[in-house]
Amino acid sequence: MLRYNLIVAVCENFGIGLKGDLPWRLKSELKYFSRTTKRTRDPAKRNVVIMGRKTYFGVPPSKRPLPDRLNIVLSTTMSRAELPNDVLLCRSLEEAMKMLESESEPWCDQIENIWIVGGSGVYEEAMASPRCYRLYITKIQEQFECDTFFPNIPADFHEVPLDEDTPHGVQEENGIKYEYKILEKQ
Ligand SMILES: NC(=O)c1ccc[n+]([C@@H]2O[C@H](COP(=O)([O-])OP(=O)(O)OC[C@H]3O[C@@H](n4cnc5c(N)ncnc54)[C@H](OP(=O)(O)O)[C@@H]3O)[C@@H](O)[C@H]2O)c1
Repeated sequence: MLRYNLIVAVCENFGIGLKGDLPWRLKSELKYFSRTTKRTRDPAKRNVVIMGRKTYFGVPPSKRPLPDRLNIVLSTTMSRAELPNDVLLCRSLEEAMKMLESESEPWCDQIENIWIVGGSGVYEEAMASPRCYRLYITKIQEQFECDTFFPNIPADFHEVPLDEDTPHGVQEENGIKYEYKILEKQ
């Protein structure tokens, strides 16, 4: 069974988004997201990012699809023609995973890691699945006005030591403090 990790930045009041965008501006945190979701051990392979329709269109047009990663957008209402040719459209998270597991797709053996990158409902469904291995969570130590929130984390996730690629300790940018955490399904 193919597994995935989830990555999210969440503030003290559990918010993740406001008006289709991020509620904060943290350049280093965005770089961490980019680095983490791009990183592969095998330079010949690339990673997959799976996201809901609103998260995809929340990325500025000049920055989407997210470069150097296979972008999969989940939507039940969009048509293929509304997305660039190199972005895949799936009707459900499980459809996306089945497609990635299918040996008939020529690019399937060129994939290394799969990242769930939001939003709210996609995170909730992803965390409930046995396919979910790790949660990479940036805990922002401040409250922000938000209209989109991170769902409750199921009790079977526990914090594990940070890997060597994740900055340790409290980070700070524009006076905003935040810390990286990794949780793993036990
Ligand atoms: N802080 C962070 O780390 C972070 C990460 C990601 C996003 N965000 C923020 O969160 C907000 C967007 O998140 P959101 O929760 O509002 O929306 P979203 O999950 O990105 O998009 C929701 C839409 O995606 C489609 N969708 C979601 N789950 C699906 C599934 N399992 N199967 C098929 N389609 C599915 C549906 O589209 P249809 O209606 O077309 O069916 C649904 O209406 C933005 O503000 C964004 O900036 C923050």
